[in-house]
Amino acid sequence: MDTPFSTLIRTASHAQHTEAETSSFMGDLLGGRLAVDAYARYTEQLWFVYRALEEGAESLREDPVAGPFIRPELFRTAALEQDLAHLRGPDWRAGVSPLPATLAYAERVAECARDWPAGYVAHHYTRYLGDLSGGQIIRDKAERTWGFDRKGDGVRFYVFEEIGNPAAFKRAYRELLDGVDADDLEKQRIVDECKRAFDFNSAVFRELGGEFSLSA
Ligand code: HEM
Repeated sequence: MDTPFSTLIRTASHAQHTEAETSSFMGDLLGGRLAVDAYARYTEQLWFVYRALEEGAESLREDPVAGPFIRPELFRTAALEQDLAHLRGPDWRAGVSPLPATLAYAERVAECARDWPAGYVAHHYTRYLGDLSGGQIIRDKAERTWGFDRKGDGVRFYVFEEIGNPAAFKRAYRELLDGVDADDLEKQRIVDECKRAFDFNSAVFRELGGEFSLSA
């Protein structure tokens, strides 16, 4: 296969990306049509997903396939906890609950971390490269819509303090993807898992859309 793996995975997940990006919940959120409560509820869902990603990361540090992707400067759990304390108050932990789609998503991430490191890479890519890309658009909108301090409490999830040059980081990340030691069949399975990861995100948006529907 001549196509670099980073190109393959991006191209193959393009349709799912468009679907996630154009979900009605995201559209309403980015269109400034939802109250901050919806943004907080979404942030809660992210907390469950990143806990699974980052708890799973611990045991994968030495793994030949997933290990090189485990970079502490990407970790988001602490930033999400700061955001939630700001959004929901110091007792935020007592009030958080995963939506069914979030639970299924986090369980699948944990399962990959445990049993299939290459599958974990698919989930890692789908979230972190997205956060470094479109995540910045979401941050900008959130700051403007709900008046968070620029790069401050409420949007710390989107601020990668330790990554000075996101474009260079993404380039290096794509090189890591290109170097993944897997045969064509395994690469296809990773691509399929990436599509699944996007579908989990769309399912979370659908359920959030059900809770925060403008037409209801
Ligand atoms: C409204 C929401 C979203 C917007 C506006 C958005 C926007 C973008 C943009 C502009 C890029 C290209 C950046 C570049 O070429 O460097 C990108 C890349 C990406 N996005 Fe999104 N995105 C959104 C939602 C999502 C979601 C929900 C996910 C998955 C959880 C996601 C995952 C990704 C990934 C993995 C990439 C990297 C593609 C690659 O270069 O390999 N995005 N996004």
